Amino acid sequence: QLQASRLPALSGKTVLITAGPTREAIDPVRFLSNHSSGKMGFALAEAAAKAGARVQLVTGPVNLATPAGVERIDVQSAQQMHTAVMQRASAADIFIGCAAVADYRVAEVAEQKMKKTSSNDELTLTLVKNPDIIADVAALTYQRPFTVGFAAETENLANYAKDKLQRKKLDLICANDVSSKEQGFHSEHNAITAYWQGGELALERQPKISIAHAIIELIANKLTQKRQ
Ligand code: CTP
Ligand code: CA
Repeated sequence: QLQASRLPALSGKTVLITAGPTREAIDPVRFLSNHSSGKMGFALAEAAAKAGARVQLVTGPVNLATPAGVERIDVQSAQQMHTAVMQRASAADIFIGCAAVADYRVAEVAEQKMKKTSSNDELTLTLVKNPDIIADVAALTYQRPFTVGFAAETENLANYAKDKLQRKKLDLICANDVSSKEQGFHSEHNAITAYWQGGELALERQPKISIAHAIIELIANKLTQKRQ
């Protein structure tokens, strides 16, 4: 007799994850970026692989080893991440957007290294908006994966997270407070509250890998509920 309950929670599922920061070039030697370490996204990839999923990890530049059994796709810019994700999104059962995607990029990247001039004490860079990767995944009408976002906030955590859940049409959003040094960004720990339509779950401060296992378990439960 087949014991379905003994199967790992995500066996047979494909999980696509974004992680890390993006780098937006200013010129050949400079870029705009952010403090994302990639640790949470890599922890999620590890947890999803351990739960039996096929895992594809699209990552910006980070200093982390690829978890065992995970297919890693390295990118630099938000536009490259967008392309890598959209090529794979429809084949995924679950998409987790954990990357800290740069919201804007430099409008015109200089071909040569920019020189400082003695006449100008100010420099203005014109920025243009990057594509919203997770919103584009969630907007897929054909073969749309279960879509999970992250919201790193320094204030109004619950309100901003719930607003992103609605606005980007996500199935789940994991909110974390990055105003404290004890969690988020380069920390090994995180504390998260997950929100979905009509519910929430608080995960107290703990190592990122155990937060990741809890999030993967929550996602697996939600997928099972959806099927019923
Ligand atoms: N995200 C994305 N593509 C972008 C920006 C954000 O996929 N260009 C995803 C992130 O990976 C995350 C979620 O959207 O899962 C929320 O990111 P966040 O930066 O908090 O949202 P924004 O809509 O950019 O809002 P904010 O003004 O707070 O930066
Ligand atoms: Ca943003």
